[in-house]
Amino acid sequence: MDNRTDTFATTRARSDLPRPLVIQDKVARIPIIQGGMGVGVSLSGLASAVANAGGIGVIAAAGIGMKEKDFYSDYLQANIRALRREIRRAKSLTTGIIGLNIMVAFTNYGDLVRTAIEEEIDIIFSGAGLPLNLPQYLVPDSPTRLVPIVSSARAAGLICKRWLGRFDCLPDAVVVEGPEAGGHLGFSEEQIFDPEYALAKLLPPILAEVSNYAERYGKVIPIIAAGGIFTGADIRRFLELGAAGVQMGTRFVATHECDADQAFKQKYVDSKREDIVIIKSPVGMPGRAIRNRYTDDVSAGTKKPFKCPYHCIITCDFKETPFCIANALICAQRGNFRSGFAFAGANAYRVSEIVSVKELVATLMTEYVEAANSSALTRSA
Ligand SMILES: Cc1cc2nc3c(=O)[nH]c(=O)nc-3n(C[C@H](O)[C@H](O)[C@H](O)COP(=O)(O)O)c2cc1C
Repeated sequence: MDNRTDTFATTRARSDLPRPLVIQDKVARIPIIQGGMGVGVSLSGLASAVANAGGIGVIAAAGIGMKEKDFYSDYLQANIRALRREIRRAKSLTTGIIGLNIMVAFTNYGDLVRTAIEEEIDIIFSGAGLPLNLPQYLVPDSPTRLVPIVSSARAAGLICKRWLGRFDCLPDAVVVEGPEAGGHLGFSEEQIFDPEYALAKLLPPILAEVSNYAERYGKVIPIIAAGGIFTGADIRRFLELGAAGVQMGTRFVATHECDADQAFKQKYVDSKREDIVIIKSPVGMPGRAIRNRYTDDVSAGTKKPFKCPYHCIITCDFKETPFCIANALICAQRGNFRSGFAFAGANAYRVSEIVSVKELVATLMTEYVEAANSSALTRSA
């Protein structure tokens, strides 16, 4: 056992560790959700490690069939098969909580959601668009809980209203993703750097909007903060602001268990502040990535010719778009950065080493406890 794990053992004995995250009947000892990361960055390996560490591990559906032989010839079946396998594998590796992240913008959204529900995944997280019809796929007595990812109070309100009106239900929790997150962002390029849209500012109106519904209908709907949360002190800050848990992506990339190639993880370690850039994604949303020759090329308007056998994203105009986001992310996941680039959160440049998930969670919990001690000292000074 190394030092950090030891420290964790000591801090666990203290009473000021965060409270468990309760999403209806699913209880995570540590209130940390590992954000779903496509393409192939969070699969069963990472998700099960996080679940074993007491958090919620999330498999990303984006491009999940990439290793199947028929990925290009039978896109739908390849993805369904790989999704089933990843869910089953994750469940065989942990008794903890496993979720699936699925983007609303996928052309195969319904098929993948149905498959995950058939496989009795614990939780479905869905964003990159409004998951207005997600409950339609639920079957009676399904153990699967549904959690939308939103970036505004308006979106949260629209989802609650629609789910109540059409499906007589409310979300089981809501993830609020701010503009410092990695991957696709639910903000315009101007909003991303506008302090008015900082996560700490987005949270209170969303808490208010959702608690209106929660109180009226007698349901506890935890709110989870995401985007730019890097240390245990950050976790404490957002829990003190009213979140019941946090979702973190970037920190989990730099772990041994992350399912991407070692070169992908090393890009995080090597990146500097100025390398973290915003690109225009063919999905129709801005995306945050680590700058390289490829991102420079596409930002300068250079076309990267490709064939599109599957039209994976509804909003992608594949005949016009200068590059294929799926190809670029698949290449990066395999460590080929000549033909792709890595998505990353705004704080990726702060990553300095690759550790195990267990070590990372231990460090975060130690920092969480220490942050309480230091704010107590400041108060008494
Ligand atoms: C490499 C990478 C890939 C991601 N892919 C997805 C995705 O497929 N779907 C999604 O909803 N969010 C995706 N995200 C967002 C994460 O799930 C998470 O919410 C976000 O990164 C949190 O911010 P943080 O990275 O600063 O912790 C991705 C993030 C990263 C870094």
